[in-house]
Amino acid sequence: MSEAKVDVGSSFYRLLHPKLVVLLTCVDESGKANIITLAWAMPVSIQPPLIVVSIAPRRYSHGLIEKTKEFVLNIPTMELLKETFFCGRRSGRDVDKFGETGLTPLPARKVKAPIIKECVAHLECTLHKRVEAGDHTLFIGEVVAAYADKNVFAQTYNVEKAKLIYHMGGAEFTTLASKVTDATA
Ligand SMILES: Cc1cc2nc3c(=O)[nH]c(=O)nc-3n(C[C@H](O)[C@H](O)[C@H](O)COP(=O)(O)O)c2cc1C
Repeated sequence: MSEAKVDVGSSFYRLLHPKLVVLLTCVDESGKANIITLAWAMPVSIQPPLIVVSIAPRRYSHGLIEKTKEFVLNIPTMELLKETFFCGRRSGRDVDKFGETGLTPLPARKVKAPIIKECVAHLECTLHKRVEAGDHTLFIGEVVAAYADKNVFAQTYNVEKAKLIYHMGGAEFTTLASKVTDATA
């Protein structure tokens, strides 16, 4: 190993960042909505359509998902960076994140949790399985509806138009500069 390569210790996960940031919406039993910012989310199966999110048990949203067994992944863009950071630093135990950020809840198609109007894409999910993984819980969601703004998505995102948010670590974020050439060409 080259001596120029430093041991990163407990920052190991940052070697897998930047990661696409999502805003997960969920509801309590009375239907009151919350938003949690997540970087640890990815697709895991096409048929059945499954995604996974990794959420620490101390998050307020963790308990809501355990109770209601559903959630929505909303995809924000750089215009929503402030709101996205806010939802990742404050807890729904203490604040109404829709009220504080001004983000707009709209009814989802298949689940009780709302979508966020200002986001460009939405994946509505019901809880398929939960797996404990160290200090986080993996919630595997079955995608029951998935839709996107046609101005910024057609087969793939138009990354010039939709400046998706990528988390590097801490309070640092980045976005994609431009489209990458077709790797099969
Ligand atoms: C960019 C960013 C990414 C985050 N990713 C995750 C994550 O993947 N899993 C997690 O448990 N917390 C993550 N967090 C922390 C939660 O969003 C944060 O603790 C939030 O305040 C919890 O809200 P809640 O208590 O209302 O559920 C992230 C925070 C930020 C700012």
